[in-house]
Amino acid sequence: MANILSKFYVKTKPLSIKEYKENGGFEGLEKALHKMKPQEILDEVISSNLKGRGGATFPTGLKWQFTANESNETKYIICNADEGEPGTFKDKVLLEGCPFLLIEGMIIAAYAVGGTKGYIYIRGEYPKSKEMLRNAIGVLKDEGYLGDKILDTDFSFDIEVRSGYGAYICGEETALIESIEGNPGRARTKPPYPPNKGLWGKPTLVNNVETLANIPIILSMGAEKFKEYGTASSSGTKLISVSGSVVNKGVFEVEFGVTLKDIVYETCGGLTENSKFKFLQLGGSAGACLPENLLDTKLDFDDLRSRNISLGSGAILVADDTTCLLGFIKATAEFFEHESCGKCTPCREGNKHVTKLLDKIVNGVATVEDLEILKDVALTMKEMSLCGLGQAAPTALLTTLNYFEGEYNEHIKGYCRTGVCFMKGGEV
Ligand code: NAI
Repeated sequence: MANILSKFYVKTKPLSIKEYKENGGFEGLEKALHKMKPQEILDEVISSNLKGRGGATFPTGLKWQFTANESNETKYIICNADEGEPGTFKDKVLLEGCPFLLIEGMIIAAYAVGGTKGYIYIRGEYPKSKEMLRNAIGVLKDEGYLGDKILDTDFSFDIEVRSGYGAYICGEETALIESIEGNPGRARTKPPYPPNKGLWGKPTLVNNVETLANIPIILSMGAEKFKEYGTASSSGTKLISVSGSVVNKGVFEVEFGVTLKDIVYETCGGLTENSKFKFLQLGGSAGACLPENLLDTKLDFDDLRSRNISLGSGAILVADDTTCLLGFIKATAEFFEHESCGKCTPCREGNKHVTKLLDKIVNGVATVEDLEILKDVALTMKEMSLCGLGQAAPTALLTTLNYFEGEYNEHIKGYCRTGVCFMKGGEV
């Protein structure tokens, strides 16, 4: 297992500023502020080939360059810490284990793109993380890393912590921006993209916690050394959050290039006693459900793209054969129906239709035609929804229709192989 990020967090308590510095903390910021011009930092981040760790895997350096190219006097840096994807808890480990790392990344980002004010938008369900962030910001102000004339330069930057309150949609960057502005969390149409027109209409850089946490590391070790980790298309490491029927669950840092099989059977110690593998969901509730023969898939953006799979937030759920696939997919659909913001029709109505159809299937009253309608609605949602929520909501459904169609057909015929659905021993 790799440890370029995880060396900065310990499981029991957060690093003190002294321990952080002893671990190499602030080396990246010192170098950036005292030895580099903003464009040199942008070039270094571009050269590192770092891609966004929140789920969309957009090239970070390019996003920074777009923001830097805007000439506005006011620009915002937002750290997206609204980690709402079910099964995803890797940002929490960074927020609570070493908040200095992501804050250092934000300060470097602000200096590089001309950011004047920062926000960390944190999910309301992480009250401990919020408190720790606020404490860390206080310490950094006292130590001269935040506020006016940082480290005796002419550069000034400050950060405010804002809290979400349980809406999954607020992790979508434009809904998040709406929420900071005091509006209901609903996605905006893109373009314009936030790097051009974001918070209060100003250029805004929105990056995930893990993305920002990689920045001080890239600056201190250099892009070339950073690229020694991972693969040609996917540099560095990835924090994965693993749950389900495996022996070792939790957050692990792995190098890109590792296969899903390695993660399940080596990193996580294999399946729990007497469990038989059924499927692996990659990327949280919005992710693909993969059968055993796809466990040779690599955590590598090229390999994933060639198989039409998205890494998403890096959540991994391993389900064993006691899981009723249809019950699982129905629970997922109910989640998205509940979390849809209602702004666009494909997502608002599509999720309702999908839940109703799945309800018929798990109750043994669906027809073959219902299955066809289900596919149709799911594809429409994927293609036509306004934002990532609606586009990704049917992913688990579509991938299971593809890889596990037999189990859908069994349910339509009134048989549930796990015995979870229907009233009498799995059969109607
Ligand atoms: P996106 O592909 O629309 O955008 C990615 C990023 O690149 C955005 O910041 C966008 O502003 C920027 N961008 C793209 N094209 C641009 C351009 N031409 N100019 C300037 N900037 C540009 O994806 P989105 O909607 O931001 O994220 C979707 C992903 O979020 C999904 O893949 C999903 O995996 C992930 N997700 C993560 C969750 C979590 O808890 N970490 C929760 C839910 C979804």
